[in-house]
Order: sequence, then C-alpha cells, then structure tokens
Amino acid sequence: MAKTPLKVAVVGMGGIGHTHARAYKANDLAQLVCVCDWVKEKADEAAEKFEVPAFYSLKDVLAAHPELDIIDVTTGGYENGSWHYEPVMQALDAGKHVLTEKPISNDIFEAREMVRFATEKDLYLGCNLNHYFSGPADKARQLMADDKIGEQIYSLTKVGFNGSTVNPSNIDPKSRWQMPYSHAKAFLTHPFSVMRHFSGDISHVQAFMDKPGARRQSSDLMLSIQSVHVRFQNGCVGYLLSQRGDAHFGLGGWWSFELAGTKGTFCIENCVEKLTYWEMGQEPQITDTGITDFDATFPIRINAFLEDVSNGVPKEYLRASGRDALATMEYIFAAIDSYESGGELVKPNALPPIHGAVGYVK
Ligand SMILES: NC(=O)c1ccc[n+]([C@@H]2O[C@H](COP(=O)([O-])OP(=O)(O)OC[C@H]3O[C@@H](n4cnc5c(N)ncnc54)[C@H](O)[C@@H]3O)[C@@H](O)[C@H]2O)c1
Repeated sequence: MAKTPLKVAVVGMGGIGHTHARAYKANDLAQLVCVCDWVKEKADEAAEKFEVPAFYSLKDVLAAHPELDIIDVTTGGYENGSWHYEPVMQALDAGKHVLTEKPISNDIFEAREMVRFATEKDLYLGCNLNHYFSGPADKARQLMADDKIGEQIYSLTKVGFNGSTVNPSNIDPKSRWQMPYSHAKAFLTHPFSVMRHFSGDISHVQAFMDKPGARRQSSDLMLSIQSVHVRFQNGCVGYLLSQRGDAHFGLGGWWSFELAGTKGTFCIENCVEKLTYWEMGQEPQITDTGITDFDATFPIRINAFLEDVSNGVPKEYLRASGRDALATMEYIFAAIDSYESGGELVKPNALPPIHGAVGYVK
C-alpha cells in the first residue's frame, strides 16, 4: 500500500535549499508544502519555481502549517553552518522531525544540544551527510558484509577542490570563509562521515593545518590545508588529507577513499563514479557507475531520510543521524585542538550513549 507522503517545509532557499526542494518534489514519499527564506526575494522566487507558498520566517511556517511532519533546514551562515541551531531547535520544539544540512553546527556546544534535544523530544534529527549515499559506497559496504575486506588495516581519504582558486584581489574580508577554521568545520564533516561509515568511531586524532603562500600574502584567514592522522576504535589507522583549491588533483580525483584489509582492498574514486576492488592473486574488479555529478547523492540521501521516518525506524537506526553528524564535529574539534597544541594527540569527546529499542531486529 502506498505510504501517505510526509509533509515537508524547506527553510533557507539558497542553492542547497533548491537542491533539497527539487528532491522532495520528485519523491513520492514527500509532499513539499512550502518554502521559507528570510530574504523575501529568495523565498518568492523559490515559491514560484516549486509552486508552493512562500514564508519569511519559520515561526510563520509552523503557525500556518501545524500538519507539517518535517522541517528541512538548509540555512548557511558563518563558516557555512552557524545558522542551523535556531531553526532546528524551533522545529524540534514544535514537535517536527528535522533534516539539517551539514555541518550540524559550527559550534560544538550547539551541536551537542541539538542532538540532546531531539532525543528528549523523541524526534528524528538527520543531517545531510550525503557523501556516502552512492552506488560505490553501497558496493563497498556489500564487500565488507561479504567478508571481502577482512580485518581493517588502514584507510586513506583525500578530498579537495581543484587548482589554485586563490586570487589576492578577490579576498573578501566579509566572506563566510574568512575565518581560520571555516574549511575544517564546513567541509571535514564529509570525509570524517565517510571514514566513520566504513570503520566506525575514531578514538585518537592528530592534526596539522596550514595555508599556502598566496593565501598568507593576501591575508586570507582560512586554514585551507588539513593533514589528519587518526586511529579507529577497531584498531585500523587512517589518514585524511583535505585542501581547498590549493593544489591540483592526483589519483582518485576530487574525492577518493581507500580501505585496506587483510582479505582485500577497495578504493572509491570521485565519490560517485568508480570503485575498484583488489584481492590477492586476482585481477582488480572495477565498477564504473558512469555517474560524475556529485549532486546525484542528494536525492538518494533525502529518500533515505523519508524512508526511515515513514517506516518509523527506531531513532538509533536513522541513517546519517544528528548523532552521526555530532561525531564528525567532535573529530573536527579534536583536530583543531591538536593543531592548536602543535600536533598533540587528542581523544575526541565521547558521544552520547545509544539506548536501543527493545525487540527491534535490524
Ligand atoms: N551536503 C552538501 O554536499 C553541501 C554542499 C554545499 C553546501 N552545503 C551546506 O548547505 C547549507 C546551505 O548552503 P548554501 O550554499 O545554499 O547557503 P546560502 O547562504 O546560499 O543559502 C542559505 C539561505 O538561508 C537563508 N537563511 C539563513 N538563515 C535563515 C533563517 N533562520 N530563516 C530563513 N532563512 C534563512 C539565507 O537568506 C539564504 O538564502 C550550508 O550549511 C552548507 O554548508 C551542503
């Protein structure tokens, strides 16, 4: 029997808000009820495009549409994540499930509080950790489930933006990126979420951060290079290299992830494009999806959230949950601590415990 579509409002109609609204419009599990942006022109333009009413504050959305099931928060702010807290807390307080964009917050205390409050209210809080909602990532998880990787030994993650985008005359001191940790906070949530998806929780972090000469000379505040060494609770070691347009891509393109185990190794290239699997004594097996557009991850991730909410999965089984997003922020803040103390080893703050639902079989 067809499920009743979940009623959704999207708050924050920038580029990403449009991407989310498009995904809801195309999904039978959802009904896009309205859009909201506190900039009137943006709300009105999106309303016209998606043929739904426009609102200019979440308060008015909640008052006009008490029947809403989900508030999707695609606001941005400083460091591209500072304006999620207020709408997320407002929506949870009104009893709505929430999907928020990454990073869950640029402030670790706000991130912890959002996760705590969603648990208190017994509502779903998901985050758009979309980088592992892809064919290659599913294939990799299948290899692990089929015991084709074995005991995990190491993982290598390399992510970034191509080439040098640094132009001293273009540095805008008012930009949301003009803060030392803006790249670390807004972007590392993705690679950390991928590393944790495959290898579980990280127990130790050690980081170096820097920026190239062109950024220094133009007084660009952002630390655009991160080199992070980690150890996972399962004993695997990992390395993450991230840079924001300071160097040209090498092997694996803009996003590659390799996990090596005692039985086999896989490497995902360009996030959505390709997976190679190596097994001792065998020819490499290559899965090429033919997909190169990273935007393909958004509808898959949004569909997963809609499925989980429709199916009423126990909160601890929500895919890419607020708690998962909090984990990535704990690692990022541990990396910042490590960098600030000259590369010392840091143990990330413990996550809130999970109490499983009695009798649920996954
Ligand atoms: N998952 C991904 O792959 C991915 C990729 C890029 C960006 N993002 C994230 O998506 C989010 C949005 O990015 P963007 O580039 O569209 O940002 P943006 O700044 O272009 O758009 C955000 C919009 O939200 C509106 N807004 C902010 N606070 C509001 C509030 N309280 N009520 C109503 N409207 C409000 C702003 O007016 C703006 O129009 C950011 O958190 C960013 O980090 C995610």
